[in-house]
Amino acid sequence: MPITLEKLPFDILFYVACSLDFDDIIHLGRTCRQLRLLLNENTLCRKVIEAHAPHSREAQSAQIQRTTYSEALESIYSRRDAFSNAYPFSARILGHGTAFIYRQGVLCVLHGSVIRISDIYARSELCEIDLSFLSGPNSASGPSCEPLISLLHFSDGIISIHCKNRVSWPRNRIIAFRTDPALPANQREITSIQLESSSKLFVRHTSSSLYFGTHTGVSSDGHHEWEIQGVSLDNGSFQTQRPIQLVDFFGGDIGSTVAFEIHDGYFYAVSNQTSFDVEELDWTSFYHCIRFPLDDPHPNVEANKRVYRRQHAEGPIHDSWTDLSIQIDEQTNSPLIVESRREWQKSSSHKMRAFYISEFNTNSTTPSTGNSPDSGLRDEPMLPLDDPFSNLVDSTNHPHWAPTQPRYSWNVHPEVLPNTETCRSFLLARTKVRAYNYSCHSFIDLVEDDGCCGVSSSNSCLRIRIGSRRLAPFHWESLGKAESSKSRQVHPPFTDDDVSYSHSTIKMWPPVGALCPCSLRLHKILNPPFNSGTISNRKITGVVDERSLVYMVKPGRTYAPEDDALGVIILIDFSRGPSPAMSADDVINVAEDQWHWTPGYHAYCQTGDCR
Ligand SMILES: *[C@@H]1O[C@H](CO)[C@@H](O)[C@H](O)[C@H]1NC(C)=O
Ligand SMILES: *[C@@H]1O[C@H](CO)[C@@H](O)[C@H](O)[C@H]1NC(C)=O
Ligand SMILES: *[C@@H]1O[C@H](CO)[C@@H](O)[C@H](O)[C@H]1NC(C)=O
Ligand SMILES: *[C@@H]1O[C@H](CO)[C@@H](O)[C@H](O)[C@H]1NC(C)=O
Repeated sequence: MPITLEKLPFDILFYVACSLDFDDIIHLGRTCRQLRLLLNENTLCRKVIEAHAPHSREAQSAQIQRTTYSEALESIYSRRDAFSNAYPFSARILGHGTAFIYRQGVLCVLHGSVIRISDIYARSELCEIDLSFLSGPNSASGPSCEPLISLLHFSDGIISIHCKNRVSWPRNRIIAFRTDPALPANQREITSIQLESSSKLFVRHTSSSLYFGTHTGVSSDGHHEWEIQGVSLDNGSFQTQRPIQLVDFFGGDIGSTVAFEIHDGYFYAVSNQTSFDVEELDWTSFYHCIRFPLDDPHPNVEANKRVYRRQHAEGPIHDSWTDLSIQIDEQTNSPLIVESRREWQKSSSHKMRAFYISEFNTNSTTPSTGNSPDSGLRDEPMLPLDDPFSNLVDSTNHPHWAPTQPRYSWNVHPEVLPNTETCRSFLLARTKVRAYNYSCHSFIDLVEDDGCCGVSSSNSCLRIRIGSRRLAPFHWESLGKAESSKSRQVHPPFTDDDVSYSHSTIKMWPPVGALCPCSLRLHKILNPPFNSGTISNRKITGVVDERSLVYMVKPGRTYAPEDDALGVIILIDFSRGPSPAMSADDVINVAEDQWHWTPGYHAYCQTGDCR
């Protein structure tokens, strides 16, 4: 008698399932009733989540029993699937304001002198913080004396802002507020920190510790360096008497040359360069990584200036496309360096974008990163043996070189695979928001497409553009034929012992212009009309996390100073969330400013293309 999968004893199925990939488990569960039952098994779902996404928001909510593990599994799958296929579940206008922060599912919007804070998934307002008290007695002397407010960071129920006074003292302050809805207004302010300068000010904080940095240190040869200072939010005391200067940590642009993050009790910093000037003779580029515990900041204990990045010979970089971030691996909870670069690879005339992932490594004695950080100063520098220029340099040239290190498939995600049908690409000026998420293996761009709504207007439309990849099956070659249909393509592994990934084609959403009523509505939501200013110079800023894109569109060229112009904030949501119960009439009549996919209502939108 043949043994079929569903006749296997539960225990065996359980062990088989535990060693399968996340998507495979769900897909198998959809093949038949018996396997479907497995997915209702809470213990199994828990095992799967603990193996594949133990640090996801869904896992945490199952841990505290707000949802079951089986719901968590479905929910992770459906958001990942929606994200990687560019099929959001909903889109809506969240409100108006002059600035916003979106993080941890919470939206903070500055409008006039009020910050409105809301949980966008629970659709509940958390609190309002009225900042008019900051204007002080000077406010009578007119708007030019009002302090300038900007939002700095939101995390763990705390928002921090920067208040810059134009006339009164102190000139610069960081103020942190709690956003817990239960607190009375006069107990929200936690701390107010006076600053001498706010040059390139940034803030990262947890619920108990706040770190801020400014580009105000001065190095021995006179250029600016970062200074970092930590404050306890429990009692307001500073971690160190003087700010910590990140000596020889170069790069001044957060998001492209440097990135800072707090994770699990540590402060992390990474830079894409290890020297201030571009050396004339140089072969290899490294990342500079630093980390220290929040409660014991010493920036030189765990630092590594030789985390391999690339060889300069790989080709020139188109700098304006570079994005640098520190991301946390959902599976291992360890930090990773994620850099997106557009390069003219190997002397080709074609620019290719790729997303590079490296381990964040502060262990400078790890052999794989080449020689130790300062050996170049002590000994003869390490140099390539076969390069004629090697004879021309000595340590005074500060040359950087390390042998080329292998890149594995997980280290690099090319935007487009070679030999794929040409897909539409967009110029930098037309790419308004860019993001890559390592855990989702996806990139998302918000682009201005002028070939989309040709019929209805001469304007260009905002659309999302998404590409993603996932681990290919072990025997991908035999499956390759079926897999590499029009919609997926397998990228062969770089080496024999490496994994391979199967890439989706790049997708754009929403569907073109007036294809159907739902797409028409979506275009109206995503492209808010403005009375003043032309569409072409509207200003767009956005934030992406694993389940959504939140962006703000401000009209171009208004008479108000740029910061005061009122923008529209829009959410594109990939998580399914509780679907509002709707009848067919509701689907037609719901407010114009939202669109929600409702199962079974494809018929309304004849082609069903919006989802
Ligand atoms: C302030 O709180 C921190 C913990 O957040 C503690 O380490 C420090 O000793 C406290 N300082 C004072 C002056 O109480
Ligand atoms: C780091 O990134 C910036 C911005 O893209 C670029 O100008 C610079 O050349 C990069 N540094 C190195 C060493 O490649
Ligand atoms: C650093 O790497 C070296 C060599 O691999 C290893 O022996 C050492 O234990 C590592 N140190 C830490 C703190 O991980
Ligand atoms: C990426 O996705 C993970 C979950 O899949 C999430 O925790 C993280 O915040 C996301 N990171 C970014 C930078 O979007």
